[in-house]
Amino acid sequence: AGPLAGCLVGSQLACLDVIDSTNTECKRRAMVGAPEGLVVLAEEQTGGRGRLGRSFQSPRGCGLYLSALLRPHAEPAAVTDFTAWVAVAVCDGIEAACGIRPRIKWTNDIVLNGRKLVGILTELGLESETNSLQYLVTGIGVNVNHTPEDFSPDIRDMAGSLAMELGHPVRRVELAAAIIRALDRMYRSFPQDKQRYLDQYRADCLTQGNRVQLVTPVSRQEAYALEIDDQFRLVVELEDGTRKALSAGEVSVRGM
Ligand code: BTN
Repeated sequence: AGPLAGCLVGSQLACLDVIDSTNTECKRRAMVGAPEGLVVLAEEQTGGRGRLGRSFQSPRGCGLYLSALLRPHAEPAAVTDFTAWVAVAVCDGIEAACGIRPRIKWTNDIVLNGRKLVGILTELGLESETNSLQYLVTGIGVNVNHTPEDFSPDIRDMAGSLAMELGHPVRRVELAAAIIRALDRMYRSFPQDKQRYLDQYRADCLTQGNRVQLVTPVSRQEAYALEIDDQFRLVVELEDGTRKALSAGEVSVRGM
């Protein structure tokens, strides 16, 4: 039995050399009936996509760029916190493969020593007439063996890689298997083991207790991050004393 024996996530693997985006490829395959559990991996992405319309730098050979196709039987509203579960699973996978547990910056960046290691982008496929959930693609980009020169100068101060932080290269195949196994375990627990993932998310998340800047395309606001509520939202206190619970996708948080 291979390292993914018994796993639904990773029951079919597509290992590609170059692709525009593993998320886009996974969606293309989802629309022509690809099975739940398909994982698309690529050595290099020419159009890696991030949240809020940003790009995700995906240089050849040093990263892990993968997307999983899932078909949860749930309403679209029931998967709004899915990416937070994925973030916990990715921390589990990195810990299993590398022996260190990175932390989470709300909502779903994974950081180590203050540098971003992992970005996660979840996209939903909705049935056009009923708006019901047809499929979900969750894409994970891990900076594994990058050196600082592999990042463009504009992100070099913020981005890091596992190799840079650990001081030695990491075997990508083993890391990929550990992350896919952790995703599989998480998906089997979704949504019934919410308390475990919520507790772990709170333990892993660095954002609560910090002053943050709330950034939207049109505004920027100072706030104090109080806690993660039971819907994985970030509860903040604004400068006028009012409290607000922020959902993923509404804002991004800076300054920590
Ligand atoms: C972010 O940091 O804003 C999310 C980045 C997500 C990047 C991954 S890499 C694999 C998958 N394919 C993509 O085009 N994006 C995700």
